[in-house]
Amino acid sequence: MRISDKVVAQLKDLGVEVRQGVSLSDLTSLGIGGTTDELLLRRYETVPEVMRMLKDENIPHRFLGGGTNVLIADGELPWVVLHLPAAHPGVRVDGNAAYVDASADLGGMVTFCAKNNLGGMEGLIGVPGSVGGALRMNAGAYGTQIGPHVREVELYRAATGKVETLRGGDIRFDYRHTSFAPEDVMLRVKLELPSKPFKEILAGIKVCNEKRRSSQPLNQKSAGCIFKNPPGGSAGRMIDELGLKGHRVGDAMVSDRHANFFVNTGHASCADMLKLIDEVRERVRTAYGIELENEVIVWRN
Ligand code: EPU
Repeated sequence: MRISDKVVAQLKDLGVEVRQGVSLSDLTSLGIGGTTDELLLRRYETVPEVMRMLKDENIPHRFLGGGTNVLIADGELPWVVLHLPAAHPGVRVDGNAAYVDASADLGGMVTFCAKNNLGGMEGLIGVPGSVGGALRMNAGAYGTQIGPHVREVELYRAATGKVETLRGGDIRFDYRHTSFAPEDVMLRVKLELPSKPFKEILAGIKVCNEKRRSSQPLNQKSAGCIFKNPPGGSAGRMIDELGLKGHRVGDAMVSDRHANFFVNTGHASCADMLKLIDEVRERVRTAYGIELENEVIVWRN
């Protein structure tokens, strides 16, 4: 979608940088996605005003975080994407509290906190993406989830059109799911983390990194696990047991390393990946009577 010169000029006045005709395949870890205009919101304070303007001008939009858990449609897209430019490091530590920008890199945040002798998030070290994205889906790995550490979240609430602060206790964090509305935009988070010597945290990080390296296709284009695990089960194990590792639709393939990772081996389209997801879901349904739910978020056009 292309926005008019008039709106581009208005957005510029709000400090928004507009990049026209961007290929979202360059902004996602799967390397899949069509073309649209990208709006870089350099100042968090302008989010409500920008959202209002887009609504008034009838411009459909979506907020893209780190792009590591999303499968985006092919071709010219009927909405623009909004993006908060990455903050480096985007973290401030005060006692046991870490104040983190949503656009900060999750792994970078874990390392920064570790250097300040704050631990508890070792398991999240290899999870790609932004802190805002991790927050929205309550990312987790190796027994750690971000949710329990959250004390406050500053966010743009679509329901009120305002920036608000929620207390951690007022947010529901479930397995790969939270009570945030889909259109809410994460801006900042306050985490409370246990004190731990850097060396000890580093040892924990090393263990998680080794486990991850030995079981996941880290050097291939993927969105992490495609399906959520069903209660008490493992999607990866079921898909593996069905002999589907290496099964492909075009360049979309079930990883031969971890069967719940679907990788883009070259120029996979969104259509290829969706077909592969449907085929695998159907095979699991037939064999196990279980309907796998997507973990990856699909943006259709
Ligand atoms: N397994 C197989 N074959 C496979 C993959 C797994 O037999 O191809 C078996 C493993 O041997 C193990 C069991 O299935 O006995 C579970 O596998 P694993 O430890 O890899 O964990 P997972 O349940 O597949 C979950 C998360 C990952 C997270 C790891 C480590 C989900 C959907 N996945 O994977 O998160 O990194 O645990 O904690 O919850 C993600 O969410 O994107 C993600 C990668």
